[in-house]
Amino acid sequence: LQQLLLKKPNEPPVVFHWLPVIGSTVVYGMDPYAFFFANQKKYGNVFTFILLGRKMTVCLDTKGNNFILNGKIKDVNAEEIYAPLCTPVFGKDVVYDCPNAKLMEQKKFVKFGLTQEALRSYVTIITQECEDFVKRHKAFKGQKGTFDVTKVMSELTIYTASHSLQGEEIRNSFDSKFADIYHDLDMGFSPINFMLSWAPLPHNRARDRAHDTMINLYSEIVRKRRAGSQKKDSHDMIWHLMDCKYKDGTQVPEHEIAGIMIALLMAGQHSSSSTIAWIILRLAQNPHIVEELFAEQKSVLGADLPTLTYDDLSSLPLHAQVVKETLRLHAPIHSIMRKVKQPLVVEGTNYVIPTTHNLMSSPGFSAQLDTYFVDPAKWDPHRWDAGQHSYEDVDGDDEKIDYGWGVVSKGTNSPYLPFGAGRHRCIGEQFAYMQLQTILVAFVREFKFRNVNGSKDIIGTDYSSLFSRPLAPGTVEWERRGKEL
Ligand code: HEM
Repeated sequence: LQQLLLKKPNEPPVVFHWLPVIGSTVVYGMDPYAFFFANQKKYGNVFTFILLGRKMTVCLDTKGNNFILNGKIKDVNAEEIYAPLCTPVFGKDVVYDCPNAKLMEQKKFVKFGLTQEALRSYVTIITQECEDFVKRHKAFKGQKGTFDVTKVMSELTIYTASHSLQGEEIRNSFDSKFADIYHDLDMGFSPINFMLSWAPLPHNRARDRAHDTMINLYSEIVRKRRAGSQKKDSHDMIWHLMDCKYKDGTQVPEHEIAGIMIALLMAGQHSSSSTIAWIILRLAQNPHIVEELFAEQKSVLGADLPTLTYDDLSSLPLHAQVVKETLRLHAPIHSIMRKVKQPLVVEGTNYVIPTTHNLMSSPGFSAQLDTYFVDPAKWDPHRWDAGQHSYEDVDGDDEKIDYGWGVVSKGTNSPYLPFGAGRHRCIGEQFAYMQLQTILVAFVREFKFRNVNGSKDIIGTDYSSLFSRPLAPGTVEWERRGKEL
């Protein structure tokens, strides 16, 4: 009866639950995809559930992705949902603490800063970081051993992403005090903060202190550089943002450069470290693919395996497909949320979603449907061979929208959208591919991998944070390649 009272005429069905505020929070939080599959069976592609007291209307499959991700700014809003969580971490006047038009300009600054020249220099930096890392890390002493992929890969990506994108000063701070500060700041993304981000709890106090320290650190770097005591000697994003101007002609102020840099660190770190961890775990489950990758490198780049360059990446298709396939099954962002700004009719249904609801889209769900993918649960990088299924190119129509930072299709029918779609689409895709492929090349050159005792299992997913990642520890066996290989 309670469920029937909750559901109004023309509103989507409400997922059955016993407790009013808790609703489906626990079941959803344990495994969002299992929750979506089960409820799609019961209610179809559109249904509402209660998440920490909020009404969430999920719209699944390609139509659902398109409806939410390409929603108009007058209809759907991201910042009202994300700001309470993000603003204490990123800071004032950036990302979700400013009008959307300003975010579009900030995304443009970053996207335009990721030039071919910059990406080229990053490949060299990341390769060097990987080589140093495997030489000095205690997990890789000797000829063979095991390592905890989740832990080790998040350490590595902090170094690779910070050195390339954030510059040498920030990279060097990670060797000392910065790691703890980063950890404290990261606690700001605990899911509990969707409700209690303002509360003076110990983890929020630590977050606020870490935030102030980081803003000061970045601001000091900008001040030093602006004072002219240092010349521009790298392609890091701080230098680039210092040269950017808003449409009204103003420079990007220090605290905004700092805030954008924190946002990039967070956005890039979680998604990339989780993806590269999954890549290694999938390779350990499929050691024959590791050997195929090694063979690809030798046949394309030469048996002596010269130092990798940015241009080499486009001639290593299997390496790219490994990234692509891993993002299909293990997209780090499983749920994307928006606030409803005016009553919305869901196309092809009688449902009207009221403004008291939020919307939830899950492109990671459509990427697991057998309507689009043969044997969808199987991790198979060869499913993308010869450009088959390049689903990114499936547009809903030919109409394009220019968001300032890039021109994207007005609609999309693609079931494969690990980087999202529409005005909030990711601008870090090229950086992410470059970074993940470069690390992959380095690890495949150095090691063979397999699951402990050659098992074919794969570990589960930890959905307890906003970004999903492999359950720790993900232990994998490695063996250094001999010279004869
Ligand atoms: C937005 C995924 C790496 C910066 C997004 C969105 C997705 C996504 C799904 C859309 C979120 C939404 O619609 O609410 C990924 C994946 C990555 C990755 C799978 C790596 C494997 C990066 C990196 C950066 C970055 C490396 C920075 C260099 C951003 C930014 C946005 C974004 C600035 C825009 C947020 C907005 O407009 O609201 N990303 N991302 N991402 N991402 Fe990424």
